[in-house]
Amino acid sequence: MTGGKNFVLKGNICYSEDVRSLKTVEQGYLVCQDGKSAGVYKELPVQFTDYPLEDWGDMLIVPGLVDLHIHAPQFAFRGLGMDLELLDWLNTNTFPEEAKYADLEYAKKAYGIFAESMKKSATTRACIFGTIHRPATELLMDLMEETGLKTMIGKVNMDRNSPDYLREQGAEESEQETLRWLEEIGSKYENVKPILTPRFIPSCTDDLMERLGRLQKEHGLPVQSHLSENQGEVAWVKELCPTSEFYGDAYDQFGLFGGNGKTVMAHCVSSSEEEIELIKERGVYIAHCPQSNTNLSSGIAPVRTYLDHELNVGLGTDVAGGSGESIFRAMADAIQVSKLRWRLKDESLKPLTVEEAFYLGTLGGGSFFGKVGSFLEGYEFDALILDDSGLPHPQVLNLRERLERFIYLSDDRHLKGKYTGGSRIF
Ligand code: GUN
Ligand code: FE
Repeated sequence: MTGGKNFVLKGNICYSEDVRSLKTVEQGYLVCQDGKSAGVYKELPVQFTDYPLEDWGDMLIVPGLVDLHIHAPQFAFRGLGMDLELLDWLNTNTFPEEAKYADLEYAKKAYGIFAESMKKSATTRACIFGTIHRPATELLMDLMEETGLKTMIGKVNMDRNSPDYLREQGAEESEQETLRWLEEIGSKYENVKPILTPRFIPSCTDDLMERLGRLQKEHGLPVQSHLSENQGEVAWVKELCPTSEFYGDAYDQFGLFGGNGKTVMAHCVSSSEEEIELIKERGVYIAHCPQSNTNLSSGIAPVRTYLDHELNVGLGTDVAGGSGESIFRAMADAIQVSKLRWRLKDESLKPLTVEEAFYLGTLGGGSFFGKVGSFLEGYEFDALILDDSGLPHPQVLNLRERLERFIYLSDDRHLKGKYTGGSRIF
């Protein structure tokens, strides 16, 4: 496995060392050894001089971006039906669309478009929701495996509060389908891993959550779900789970809130102080999805508070709540909504900086996957080649300025190369 995974990229290198510090190296050397970063250098150390070198000229080289929350079956209706709030949007737009994935022919077409778009995007790692359908979810995993991206994909569990056409007939059936799914995929993938995916508390009976809690422990699976996205939903969870002290506690009662395995919860727009404390105690990751929270009028998550509490935070697009798959766009959105929150809601919570937003979309979310999201030595070699020559500027800009502009102005056409774990995607 070593051969092709030892090489050097030369160019203008930018990466986060931590939440506050963005490291920039002009005309530096980024070394890949066995699919991992062997460091960034101003002068190439002699032990690497016999590695093949790709010179990317004046282009930028940054870590691959991480999407901690995206729904593959919703890709087909992104940018449509954006005038509703969460619960109405689920019933009116989302559930009817997701029901179509019972049909494998439809799934093949729609997931083919999704996989192709993800491949071309700046995302190298993602946590992905499928639907309740086992065969379509397996097809999605096959297609994503071929892209070379490193992803975690979940067959969704839901056995209550949705129409007959998109509901598993009881907790036992949902558990059995999940077990069969895990059995069928076995260890057949190199790039794709399964992640347990109870949709959210309103979709899962206590019986199902109990079974999934056991299954999580037995199989040591990571978990993804939704948390405190909007206030109507939070109130509904209180009604559905009167014994829970807060929304996160409703997951925790079943052992599905970190502690035993990595867990990522999307949104946390309306988390209480107790919930924030438990998120910290359990090491739960927050997928901040600013565009979705705007489209569905959910609100603005207090990301500054989460960073102050040193919680694990990354970014998610939450397609189709979010209308596109770009994590660069999510960085800009995160900064913009934090400014609105600061001005309109709480002037003690400073807006996010470019350094912080870039961290969230790389290293912040990346650590959910291990040593991912930076070029520090030992990190997995996920890299993007960014060409901003098509975004001309009349002055000479420094690397930080060029990266900031790229975040706001670029699209996939400005991506010239992409690597995951040392393998070239394009
Ligand atoms: N909560 C439960 N399901 C969903 C979903 O599909 N999208 C979003 N944004 N929130 C959810
Ligand atoms: Fe979501």
